[in-house]
Amino acid sequence: MPAKIAPSILSADFGHLDRDFQMINQSQADWFHVDVMDGVFVPNISFGFPVLKSLQKVATKHLDVHLMIVDPDRYIADFAQAGAQTLTVHYEACTHLHRSLQAIKAHGMKAGIALNPHTPVDVLSDIIADADLVCLMSVNPGFGGQKFIERTYDKIKALKALIERENAHALIEIDGGVTLENAAALHQAGADVLVAGNTVFGSANPVETIAELKRRTQ
Ligand code: DX5
Ligand code: ZN
Repeated sequence: MPAKIAPSILSADFGHLDRDFQMINQSQADWFHVDVMDGVFVPNISFGFPVLKSLQKVATKHLDVHLMIVDPDRYIADFAQAGAQTLTVHYEACTHLHRSLQAIKAHGMKAGIALNPHTPVDVLSDIIADADLVCLMSVNPGFGGQKFIERTYDKIKALKALIERENAHALIEIDGGVTLENAAALHQAGADVLVAGNTVFGSANPVETIAELKRRTQ
């Protein structure tokens, strides 16, 4: 199965959001990746519902929303209303993760779990069957354009083994520092979804860069 490519709009030009949304619509990208940060869980504040709702109006692709916020349960219904189709919460931000995943699904969305770089994959053994997606952070969350943490390859393999052992169906998503150079190796290691911010939006021709990411992960 080819990898899904999910450009992160965190790296878009916020002065020309509509142009960048349309660029993704017209490209070979599979998903929009939407990073919501609260300045508490991570040391940065990104954007919230108004931006997501504007995207919802024009997006022709799946909206993959990554919450880097504390106590995400408070906003699950609002994110469903704002158009999120996959809603990913951080393992480190949820005291009752099982309940959070059930609530996400009850609102008609796919439920994802994100793990910070220091969190071992093993903590998911009793919840993996309930997840539609696991997002392995391959940088410390908060900012685009950071360097990929190489240890992630081992985590992909461990996660893949866990998914197979538990007969689970979760997609493996890699978020942070994905480049044209490492995309193929990540896909080969078992990644199903590659998020790319700086690699896409920092390139001279984003549509062509998305196509190249796609080509390298067939
Ligand atoms: C990081 C975000 C990522 C970020 C990735 O906290 O979750 O989705 O946008 O950006 P790049 O691809 O530039 O590392
Ligand atoms: Zn993200």
